[in-house]
Amino acid sequence: MDRTGFEKVVLADRVILITGGTGGMGKATAVLCAQRGAKVVIADLDERSGGDLVAEISRNGGTAAFFRVDVTSESDVKAMVDFTVSTFGGLHGAFNNAGLETGIGPLHEYPLEKWQKGVAVNMTGVFLCVKHELAHMLAHGGGSIVNTSSVSGVTGFPDMVEYVASKHGVVGITRAAAAEVSGKNIRVNVLVPGATETPMFLKLIEGNDEVRDFVAAKHPIGRVAKPSEMAEAAAWLLSDSSSFVTGASINVDGGYAAL
Ligand SMILES: NC(=O)c1ccc[n+]([C@@H]2O[C@H](COP(=O)([O-])OP(=O)(O)OC[C@H]3O[C@@H](n4cnc5c(N)ncnc54)[C@H](O)[C@@H]3O)[C@@H](O)[C@H]2O)c1
Repeated sequence: MDRTGFEKVVLADRVILITGGTGGMGKATAVLCAQRGAKVVIADLDERSGGDLVAEISRNGGTAAFFRVDVTSESDVKAMVDFTVSTFGGLHGAFNNAGLETGIGPLHEYPLEKWQKGVAVNMTGVFLCVKHELAHMLAHGGGSIVNTSSVSGVTGFPDMVEYVASKHGVVGITRAAAAEVSGKNIRVNVLVPGATETPMFLKLIEGNDEVRDFVAAKHPIGRVAKPSEMAEAAAWLLSDSSSFVTGASINVDGGYAAL
């Protein structure tokens, strides 16, 4: 039996779009969704990793395509949705997961440029994706949208004002959208990950075991997450197995926000 208990999640013939699709969580989710039968569009800035991931999924019998997107560009985001629909014939689920960590520093010294760059990707990027995905889903019978926030989107954290603020914004976008469209067969939820061993996390700890232990200790479960643990939750939210869940913040955080 599947250790997670989500073994019944089925995504057969669903078309699923994943931004940040070549990164740690996005890649794990793309691989899992393809294994469960979905046709996956991997959207990211990183074209080379996108090509490699499409090849890997295809080798394992799955179906995937890559689209290069900058989620801060509205024309890119609209083209990404159009590409998904024209390539695979629809859009049933979207995982708006692209994000970046702009750096640590006290609020009273935090550079405006870093703030603007981070907000553009982490919050405005999610707004643009939800906007254009909804435009399609409203006209074509519904769907499921999952946005990626963070434990920094539901709690405060020192020296990370941009990340904390923009990830709170992602929770707000999710609730606003869910309140607006849940009666139209569209569910919108937000994944709230704890620290997860991805390229972003590894860059943040810079190989420093003390920092890793410090971060792990903030999670009552006593460790950081694996990307596959986020993928399981995202796939569940994208599937009909979560059919009564909308507007929800789903903590996959090893107990972090419980403290
Ligand atoms: N790793 C963690 O500890 C952690 C914890 C909580 C939340 N998150 C969030 O999870 C999400 C996934 O992060 P990850 O840990 O897999 O990081 P990652 O760095 O491995 O992946 C992020 C991906 O987003 C892409 N990206 C960045 N800017 C983009 C843009 N403008 N347009 C399109 N793509 C862009 C990157 O190329 C990368 O592939 C992010 O939103 C992140 O903020 C991560």
